[in-house]
Amino acid sequence: MTQGTQLWGARFRSAPSPAMKRLSRSPNSYFRLAPQDLRSSAAHARELVRAGILTAPEGDEIVAALAALGADIAAGTVQPAPQDEDVHTFLERALVERLGTLGGKLRAGRSRNDQAANDLKLYLREKARDIAAGVLELQDALLAQATAHQQTLAPGFTHLQPAQPVTFAHQLLAHAQAYARDIDRLTDWDRRSARSPLGAAALAGSAIALSPEISARELGYDAPCENSIDAVGSRDHVAEFLFVTAMLSVDLSRLAEEIFLWSSRQFGWVELDDAYATGSSIMPQKKNADIAELTRGRAARLISGLNLMLVALKGLPFAYNRDLSEDKFAAFEAIDTLELVLPAMAGMVATMTVRTEALARQSTEGFTLATEVADWLSRNGVPFSEAHEITGALVRYCEEHGVGLSDLSPEQLASVDPRLTADVLPHLTPEAAVAARSGYGGTAPARVAEQIDRLRTLCDSQRQWAAA
Ligand code: ARG
Repeated sequence: MTQGTQLWGARFRSAPSPAMKRLSRSPNSYFRLAPQDLRSSAAHARELVRAGILTAPEGDEIVAALAALGADIAAGTVQPAPQDEDVHTFLERALVERLGTLGGKLRAGRSRNDQAANDLKLYLREKARDIAAGVLELQDALLAQATAHQQTLAPGFTHLQPAQPVTFAHQLLAHAQAYARDIDRLTDWDRRSARSPLGAAALAGSAIALSPEISARELGYDAPCENSIDAVGSRDHVAEFLFVTAMLSVDLSRLAEEIFLWSSRQFGWVELDDAYATGSSIMPQKKNADIAELTRGRAARLISGLNLMLVALKGLPFAYNRDLSEDKFAAFEAIDTLELVLPAMAGMVATMTVRTEALARQSTEGFTLATEVADWLSRNGVPFSEAHEITGALVRYCEEHGVGLSDLSPEQLASVDPRLTADVLPHLTPEAAVAARSGYGGTAPARVAEQIDRLRTLCDSQRQWAAA
């Protein structure tokens, strides 16, 4: 029954070839923009009433039909046909089926070019908030674990070598800070993207829809785009969205990589909950951190999406070109991926058991308290360059004698350098080491508690934005 409307054709002598139609047709996933297109069509119908193209009753009839169509699409009783070239064609066809020629009046004063730009922008602005909400779930999980592990000692690493003791909360919150910035990037992107492409029509501006300020406000934008050519021809807001999602995926991948290491037998820092781990088909003993690995792997897709959009944009002349429809391919892939990854990561973090004894034991392995010796010497007037040398010699002494720094006797200390006295010994505990790092942003438990408070406050305000 569905013929599939074609929105053009009178000037053509022959019908489009099957190959042309196949290439031109939107992938099925692009039809997800129907709700945004319908909402914008209602705003456009009201604009056409203002312009005198539709009578007020005609406008009402169209708006009601659009709402009914939206409900039917949501219920799955109306679906795009293979002959519908894209979401705009599909919805016009469905509207004409319901309203006859009145449905055809809606096309006045607009183009698929401004519709396509507008639909995706509306969708991205909604999804930016959903993504933020998903990240905030992960933030909640990280904050809960950090709150529970403010006193948990852990080895801090640089270059994946034991460096200095930290609190495990501090290590967890390092990731949370990155996610807080990712959400901030979304809010910042959203502010810049709050310009409506409607009224741009094909490229030069509409000769009929002359008050795009009104439709812009109706659709939640701040204002129309400043320039109609830019409105239909630019996608830097999509590229920027893809940068933010790619950055987020890279930040997720870095946490995933750590959890992958932490849950290994060699580290033994955390035990993953059974519900968030997988087994092996051949090795019955295996428990794998698949969520972490899949998250790390999927980051490749999001990075590719940003690359795809930038490459598609590079060298595009003038205003709208069909190349621009790649915007949806990249954006939907990024969004769909994050919608899978974020809840899994949040659940994995929320449910993992932290092995506090293993962490505490490892916190001093690899002479991580050596900096305490050098700091102590320097506080006692020894130039740090010399303090560094003396401490290096002390570590070598410990290695040769198979002892730890905090096990040294006053005599052994003095044998390396007379300036090393028993007074250094109280500093050589991981508790003392973390407590000493008490400046703003340091790992001292008191500072970490403040960090947790500030991050909670920030998350609360970000949550409000995500819910708006
Ligand atoms: N279907 C296109 C898209 O998905 C929009 C259509 C614009 N096409 C055109 N021939 N002006 O972005």
